[in-house]
Amino acid sequence: MSQHTADQPQSGTGPAATSPGWWTEAIIYQVYPRSFADGDGDGMGDLEGVRSRLPYLRDLGVDAVWLSPFYASPQADAGYDVADYRAVDPVFGTLPDADALIRDVHAHGLRIIVDLVPNHSSEQHEWFRRALAEGPGSALRERYHFRPGRGAGGELPPNDWESVFGGPAWTRTTDPDGTPGDWYLHLFAPEQPDFDWDHPAVGDEFRSILRFWLDMGVDGFRVDVAHGLVKAPGLPDLGTREQLRLLDGEAKPFFDQDGVHEVYRSWRTVLDEYPGERIFVAEAWTPTIERTARYVRPDELHQAFNFPYLTTPWDAAELRTIIDRSLDAMRSVGAPTTWVLSNHDVTRHATRFANPPGLGTQLRSAGDRELGLRRARAATLLMLALPGSAYVYQGEELGLPDVVDLPDEVREDPSFFRAAGQDGFRDGCRVPIPWTVDGTSYGFGSGGSWLPQPAGWGELSVRSQTGVEGSTLELYRAALAARRAHPALGAGDRVQWLDAPAGVLAFRRTAGGRDLVCAANTTGAPVPWTGPGTLLLSSAPLGADGELPADTTAWWTSP
Ligand code: GLC
Repeated sequence: MSQHTADQPQSGTGPAATSPGWWTEAIIYQVYPRSFADGDGDGMGDLEGVRSRLPYLRDLGVDAVWLSPFYASPQADAGYDVADYRAVDPVFGTLPDADALIRDVHAHGLRIIVDLVPNHSSEQHEWFRRALAEGPGSALRERYHFRPGRGAGGELPPNDWESVFGGPAWTRTTDPDGTPGDWYLHLFAPEQPDFDWDHPAVGDEFRSILRFWLDMGVDGFRVDVAHGLVKAPGLPDLGTREQLRLLDGEAKPFFDQDGVHEVYRSWRTVLDEYPGERIFVAEAWTPTIERTARYVRPDELHQAFNFPYLTTPWDAAELRTIIDRSLDAMRSVGAPTTWVLSNHDVTRHATRFANPPGLGTQLRSAGDRELGLRRARAATLLMLALPGSAYVYQGEELGLPDVVDLPDEVREDPSFFRAAGQDGFRDGCRVPIPWTVDGTSYGFGSGGSWLPQPAGWGELSVRSQTGVEGSTLELYRAALAARRAHPALGAGDRVQWLDAPAGVLAFRRTAGGRDLVCAANTTGAPVPWTGPGTLLLSSAPLGADGELPADTTAWWTSP
């Protein structure tokens, strides 16, 4: 169990003696700094805001926080375009603010994971600015992918790769003398040039950046686009369109190349020099969960997000298949499985489940909100009963829906502005979260909110839900408290499936001499099913008739 005991980090001392593998069952809460809490009233969340809300996170019962990027950045992709990896963007605060936050996180008995963006920099990064300014022949161009164009005048991109955000993955440069020059590769926005990881300076720089933040006291890194760093030699054409549909089972010359593993092995040796069980978690979109498991072999990264789980619809049979596959794949390399339902890149699960399945992760339809919330709560209790670690995205504990009707003119997602990108509607899950019933930006800050919050947002606020029986916030608090108290929640690497009617998923977990049974009814009608022992928690009230209501998950425990 991930329990707060004497082996937690001590106040102000950084990660002191830790229980081995604290992260194997941890609940890690994603803070999206722009949208969590605004300490200086400029309408944009910041580090001071996060710091002021640490008691809330401690009381919620999470083990660690992961912060999306807060580094110096022109914010072309909400901070995932980093201009200086060792500086805090003024919009979020200062380096001393980061230092204070790290110390304070530890003082609250929590751990802190920061985002690392190694696939690409910002176009404003010093290396890239100089590479452009120095023109062809600049040695700094070798740290990115600069290539001459095809066609008689070099007017065509060097290959047929497409950007994740839509359009070609190449942008043509203009030479210092004003003539059209070489092209550079960007798998994301043009403001995000990809590094060439074959150049040794890139690896050296990132090992140094790791040390910088490890010395600051962070407990780990979330590795952005971990599948993208190494490209196939020669940058071969793919020969198809619509290339960047992720998880489609196809190998790509720009993703999931075997060479990435060498990078992670070298990083692991750096991390292991530091005390305190620090970790890496990979954002690795690969064709299969089995390929993802390669990122978490014993000498590589510690965890990887389980995107196949996130993209599975609310359907018992499909969930069972992916749960088994995930556990098998991760067990084969000795890594804990992770689970996740929402993050800053996908439509919130309360809205995904409010819509028919199969629509993907970028939705513009609110769907049936009541149904979505009911399923979201059930999906959360299912996730939290599985063995391993789980990631919770800020606001999901309030049952927030996606804001699907943001006016186009307020949107900032760069993908929205490029035709046919894979993403595009990510602003809807990034709307600042409500803390209070009313007031300026519902308690987010004193100066409005960078994305407009919908009317009625305050009814979903922390204040509105605190202490209210049956609220989603109290459900999360109860579930996370139960995880601390019950050894069978989180522990181990297996589930024992129980017989259950079609549409119901039921399993037993045993640890520390105690049993826990979890059952999830993914159908729209009640089914006769009840667990043994005492009801510990359910996502909706159970009747007295031995039935599991529609779209409901429940936990039973026996001594
Ligand atoms: C990751 C991030 C996403 C970002 C992209 C490019 O997928 O989660 O927000 O846009 O990488 O850095």
